Amino acid sequence: MPKALETEALSKRFGGLVAVDNVSLAVRQGDVHCVIGPNGAGKTTLLNLLSGALPPSAGRIRFGDQDIAGLPPHRIAQLGIGRSFQRTNIFPEFSAYENCRLGAQARMASSMRFFRPAERDDGVRERAERALALTGLTPRRDTRASVLSHGEQRQLEIGVMLATEPSLLLLDEPMAGMSADETARMVDLLRRLKEGHTLILIEHDMDAVFALADIITVMVNGAVLASGTPQEIRASQAVQDAYLGGDDLA
Ligand SMILES: Nc1ncnc2c1ncn2[C@@H]1O[C@H](COP(=O)(O)OP(=O)(O)OP(=O)(O)O)[C@@H](O)[C@H]1O
Ligand SMILES: [Mg+2]
Repeated sequence: MPKALETEALSKRFGGLVAVDNVSLAVRQGDVHCVIGPNGAGKTTLLNLLSGALPPSAGRIRFGDQDIAGLPPHRIAQLGIGRSFQRTNIFPEFSAYENCRLGAQARMASSMRFFRPAERDDGVRERAERALALTGLTPRRDTRASVLSHGEQRQLEIGVMLATEPSLLLLDEPMAGMSADETARMVDLLRRLKEGHTLILIEHDMDAVFALADIITVMVNGAVLASGTPQEIRASQAVQDAYLGGDDLA
């Protein structure tokens, strides 16, 4: 499988703190690549480097045939990398459909076609409807985002990202704060997204991680401790010792 994204000796320092320490990562196209690790391990900072929210202190990020390290977020989004945040980031007074339509329009604006009337522009409505359908929110199409359940709001957040038609999705704890039912629905959604997308998924819910991951990378203190298949990670003594604890993976 070709690589969707590769980092080479990627680092981010905040003063004396090395939040991301010499991380070399190879993410295969079509994989769900999970990044796990204890609080403060540098997982969100790593996503911030990949999405352009923060410039790296050192190292390279290759996406397709481009080095994207240090590019601004809108340029990286234009290239096809979508990002969802650890907290909900949608317009509460707008309907589910309208939120997705804004996502679809954002893509048009970023390709400098903002002078065309959005409703006439072929593709905007279709992309918004497709994103709604993919996230399973078509029945909630005209419901205001503020009255959706917490789980539905998290699904919508992913829908807004999908409306921009990214090929690589960066997801930071999409299951955070979810009930067991909501988590199960999110696992189903992410499984569906695997079709046609590459996913980099940060998640603390180990059941979800082991249900979804093709590859798991374990970060501790900013550095990669181990990277491998779920079976390899489950069997790794270093991972057990440093992070997971024997019982978690039984
Ligand atoms: N903008 C910032 N300025 C200074 N320090 C930061 C900044 N962002 C993160 N850090 C520090 O970098 C380290 C890594 O933080 P990060 O948020 O990436 O961890 P994480 O693995 O996502 O943790 P969690 O599981 O709690 O979300 C932490 O020590 C954090 O305090
Ligand atoms: Mg984090």
